[in-house]
Amino acid sequence: MKTIKDVNFKGKRVLVRVDFNVPFDKQGNISDDTRIQEALPTINKLTGDGASVILMAHLGRPKKGGFEAEFSLKPVAEYLSKLLNQEVVFTQSLLGEEVKSLCQNLKEGQVMLLENIRFYPEETKGDKDFAKQLADLGDAYVNDAFGAAHREHASTATIAQYFPENKYFGLLMQNEVENLNRLMNNHEKPFTAVIGGSKISSKIGILESLLNIADNLVIGGGMRYTFYKALGHTVGNSLCEDDKIDTANSLMKKAQEKGVKLYLPEDSIVADDFSEKANTQYIPSMDIPEGWEGMDIGEKSVKTYTDVVLNSKTILWNGPMGVFEMKRFADGTNAIAKAVAEATQKGAFSAIGGGDSVSAIKESGYADKVSYISTGGGAMLEFLEGKTLPGIKAIED
Ligand code: 3PG
Repeated sequence: MKTIKDVNFKGKRVLVRVDFNVPFDKQGNISDDTRIQEALPTINKLTGDGASVILMAHLGRPKKGGFEAEFSLKPVAEYLSKLLNQEVVFTQSLLGEEVKSLCQNLKEGQVMLLENIRFYPEETKGDKDFAKQLADLGDAYVNDAFGAAHREHASTATIAQYFPENKYFGLLMQNEVENLNRLMNNHEKPFTAVIGGSKISSKIGILESLLNIADNLVIGGGMRYTFYKALGHTVGNSLCEDDKIDTANSLMKKAQEKGVKLYLPEDSIVADDFSEKANTQYIPSMDIPEGWEGMDIGEKSVKTYTDVVLNSKTILWNGPMGVFEMKRFADGTNAIAKAVAEATQKGAFSAIGGGDSVSAIKESGYADKVSYISTGGGAMLEFLEGKTLPGIKAIED
């Protein structure tokens, strides 16, 4: 990999694409700064060399084709200023003479953040002229935005062609690629993949791909009810994708053919309403009664899943087991977090990815007890599906 690690950038103006697409709470505060924290090693390495750093990032999916206050990166610039202990220069626009001159006047070690790059519709179109204008702002290009590496956009992919000799992976990107490669191609067995989340439809690719490498496929979250229905069980009011019942059947058949053990929760906590205040009951089987919906896995499933995880040497966890954002239904998800942490302590290699499972492992207090937490949601899934990510290809080409 051509990374920034062994290069000295003294005196260079380095354009760095980062993924600062972070969540905010209702008060407008950043509620999870992982992506910003994880970008610091690259920023510090470059400023430590004596480079000036121009950061490019997106926030959300603005659609109007111009400035929209709710998607401004200004709060991120302020937050980053505190973390770096220096004022991060922030620009409202990305292009034009003013920005050019600000870039040219940056001193060694100074950091600048450009406003949300998606305020320009050219970004998501991967526009060449737009990418060239951005490229003109710097002497070298670093892609450290693993979370956006599956996007073929101007600042994540197109821009790299204007730096044939001076394009690099950042340290976050290097770490992600090395860990995910280890998981896919160089793992110790047994390999257990714990996959949750609400819909089978958004996980088909990764489930198919995992059937080729995992020993155990442990299913949780809302997607399990489609499997239940495929097996002839009742699902009550639970989430169920009727048009994916064939997919569920085919995944179960493939698992059997390939000798992959596919686990479905054998019991559930159900509620009569999708609310924290709902009435609940324990269902010791896979049949969810009429008028009730599944909210979490039950104690028998927790025990089985914990045992499987603890007996694994490699673990991938993506997606919660239940409606963990409601405290009453977080036990199954927290139990997985605990089991993954314990297995890691016993020597397993564990990787966690996907916004919800990352929040879950953080909330449960085990985040520092697992081997690796990915900053990528969709990007991680596509990588694990075996797809070529444009942001990675652009640097490798
Ligand atoms: C993410 O949050 O997964 C990345 O920042 C990519 O964002 P996007 O899905 O809006 O392209």
